Amino acid sequence: MRFSERFYHRILVTLTLVMSMTVSSFASIHEGGDAAKGEQLFKANCASCHKITNEVLAAPGLQGIDQRWAGKDALLVKWIQNPQAAAASGDAYVKGLVSTYVPQFGWMAGQAVSEAEIKDILAYVKKGPVGGGAKAAPTNECKTLEELKADAEKNEESDGFIWFIIVGVILAIIAVSAANISKSLKNAINEREGLPALPEVGYGKSIRGWMWKNRTFVSIVGLFLVCYFAVVGYSTLMDIGVYEGYTPTQPVWFSHSIHVCQNEVDCNYCHSSAAKSKHAGIPSVNVCMNCHKGINKGTITGEKEINKIYAAIGFDPTTKTYKTDYKEQPIEWNKVHNLPDHVYFNHSQHVTVGNIDCKQCHGPVEKYTVGHQATIDEINAQDPASVPGLIKLTKPTLTMGWCIECHNKAQIDLTSTEYYEEMHNRFKATGLGQRTIRDIMEDGEVTVREMGGWECGKCHY
Ligand code: HEC
Ligand code: HEC
Ligand code: HEC
Ligand code: HEC
Ligand code: HEC
Ligand code: HEC
Repeated sequence: MRFSERFYHRILVTLTLVMSMTVSSFASIHEGGDAAKGEQLFKANCASCHKITNEVLAAPGLQGIDQRWAGKDALLVKWIQNPQAAAASGDAYVKGLVSTYVPQFGWMAGQAVSEAEIKDILAYVKKGPVGGGAKAAPTNECKTLEELKADAEKNEESDGFIWFIIVGVILAIIAVSAANISKSLKNAINEREGLPALPEVGYGKSIRGWMWKNRTFVSIVGLFLVCYFAVVGYSTLMDIGVYEGYTPTQPVWFSHSIHVCQNEVDCNYCHSSAAKSKHAGIPSVNVCMNCHKGINKGTITGEKEINKIYAAIGFDPTTKTYKTDYKEQPIEWNKVHNLPDHVYFNHSQHVTVGNIDCKQCHGPVEKYTVGHQATIDEINAQDPASVPGLIKLTKPTLTMGWCIECHNKAQIDLTSTEYYEEMHNRFKATGLGQRTIRDIMEDGEVTVREMGGWECGKCHY
């Protein structure tokens, strides 16, 4: 039996089709990516807006996108790299996406990620945290709703404290003038009845008279006060420059716990200059707006606190537009950490070069509501698993003792060749002899101190 050429042709076409379909389903962008790499990429590029669950942060959660975008690999890549171009394709799903989310969050910005990187990201979205189940815990570390509510009230209360003092002073003034009025009244009565006016006794004299009459009481109180001020004065002198635990109130109730812990926003998203420069910096209102353009209500404070962000930048949450010709009024955060002017401290040197975790110096930030200067006990009590390489120190944070204690303990990482080179250059520059080098290397460890981290000039201008 002979088959027609057309028949062979058909078989060939069908086979190629079947093959290409299987190949394309093998090559689906949702399969075969590297989830570990994807986790890094996701955190760096997408996590500020997306969660990998189905929860909405400042954009829809990405759980299940393999199903929502099934068979549309190229379009998905296009969307991530250039959403508006993808929308122009006229795809019905994309149209729905745009009409649902753009009014609330605005357009997603095109992301500078390659197709291979997107594949890794999608593997991570599908698989979840690569560390396995270990990541299930963080919600326990976050503050509970009750704790957060109490914190929010505290930020209000302390505003009231200053009024407490002001009212106190006013009352005292009223009391003194009332005493004067009552005396003038008495004098007026005496005058009418022809009696002599009350003698003009100065305050000093009348107080001295009163003290003499109550001398036992006065001497006991006096002795007590002397002891009290001696103790307080001594400890104040010893603590000069020690502000451990300092937690000023803030104009907006910004909670690190809600952002860092519950919503897993990375420190670097808001304090991006910590890795690159001397200062870590406080985020501008624009950074808040990346998310709060869409999120206009909080679980704890409702619209009250978030409205302060809108007031600062001139945004109308009902129309979702910026007011024109609005003079921006930056939020005036109160500074928490303050080194004296004669000290030089550089974040990038510690964070990027020294590879020290923020929490080594700032403590359990995920539990803070408003900014707070960690005490050394809070820092030491952290779980070493959450602060890689945690070094336990004893001196109060931000004192000179704290800096040099760490420089004496912290080792310089010799595993990277860059450091070897840097070190040799420094040795050459300082002209250290072979013996000194041997002494330094004796214990097989090189500390910051051995590299000059105790030299006054390194930290002092
Ligand atoms: C600045 C915020 C922002 C960042 C960063 C961001 N996106 Fe988006 N993304 C959005 C918004 C908002 C939408 C919803 C559509 C819109 O409004 O444009 C969206 C939609 C999507 C969708 C469609 C979701 C669905 O349910 O179909 C995907 C997929 C997506 N983004 C992937 C990514 C990936 C991957 C990254 C990181 C490489 C990323 N996005 C970074 C804001 C962002
Ligand atoms: C990466 C996204 C993101 C950024 C950036 C961001 N926020 Fe938020 N913010 C959130 C989320 C998510 C919530 C939780 C909303 C809720 O309670 O459901 C929130 C809640 C809040 C709340 C309300 C808390 C409550 O429960 O009452 C305030 C106030 C707030 N943010 C202030 C700020 C300020 C100020 C900035 C800028 C310094 C900022 N946020 C930046 C995502 C963000
Ligand atoms: C070696 C200790 C150390 C590490 C690590 C560290 N900081 Fe700091 N941080 C400090 C000190 C000290 C100050 C006070 C600086 C000053 O007053 O000049 C400070 C101040 C700050 C401030 C206030 C603003 C400013 O720039 O002065 C912020 C915000 C901050 N740090 C965030 C971070 C973040 C985020 C990280 C991690 C990426 C980090 N820090 C890592 C010690 C550290
Ligand atoms: C969503 C934005 C956001 C994120 C994420 C964030 N911060 Fe902050 N941070 C702020 C704002 C706003 C302030 C100023 C208000 C305050 O002090 O409470 C601040 C204050 C601070 C301060 C005190 C600054 C001072 O005045 O001395 C430190 C330290 C700090 N943050 C460290 C961190 C660390 C460490 C992380 C990560 C674990 C982190 N922050 C994550 C927004 C953020
Ligand atoms: C938790 C440990 C730790 C604390 C606390 C710490 N440092 Fe450091 N510091 C380091 C490490 C590690 C390096 C080395 C980084 C490197 O490899 O160059 C370093 C390096 C330095 C250098 C550069 C030294 C050199 O030889 O070039 C200076 C300056 C410095 N720190 C200042 C300070 C000041 C000021 C403080 C206190 C306000 C402080 N550090 C607190 C760990 C710490
Ligand atoms: C690793 C960094 C570092 C080094 C090295 C260092 N200092 Fe300091 N020094 C500090 C810091 C931080 C403070 C501020 C402490 C405070 O405000 O409580 C300080 C404060 C001081 C003060 C003011 C007194 C005080 O307690 O505020 C003097 C004086 C001083 N240092 C002298 C020196 C001398 C002398 C050397 C060299 C032997 C030296 N420092 C080395 C970090 C350093």
